[in-house]
Amino acid sequence: MKPEFKTVGKVGEIAPGSGKAFEFGDQMVAIFLEADGTYLAIDDLCPHMGASLASGNFSDGIVTCPWHAWSFDARDGAWCDNRRLKIDTFQVRIQGDQIQLAAVESDESAGGSALGGGASYGGRPGGGSIKKTEACDSCETNDDSETDPQTPE
Ligand code: FES
Repeated sequence: MKPEFKTVGKVGEIAPGSGKAFEFGDQMVAIFLEADGTYLAIDDLCPHMGASLASGNFSDGIVTCPWHAWSFDARDGAWCDNRRLKIDTFQVRIQGDQIQLAAVESDESAGGSALGGGASYGGRPGGGSIKKTEACDSCETNDDSETDPQTPE
């Protein structure tokens, strides 16, 4: 199925090396602009307690939540403390001077392995979840598969 892109903002609204939150349907999406001009998009609400990830520190594709410093890889949504857990990512494209987003189809929509059955947890106001995904070796932080995302440090 072809992705359905929707305009959310204009080129120039995001400074290189930073992020900004945009409304996309009924949720907020954090779009980051890397120094090389690459746009990355993830769910804006931190799954810990709902901070806006767009306002976090962004460096080399990694965004650090401004409230309690959980870090996420904006390239694939992986939580850096356990890359098997991911938040939603979105496709970004530039059409003229418009920034457009489209949802990424995931296995979760077909009854996948969302932790907590897709319910909200940890006080997250957006009602989302971290999804359990395949392991990845690219993360430079620890990969403690026993980490419980509902028990923050
Ligand atoms: S709200 Fe993001 S780490 Fe706590």
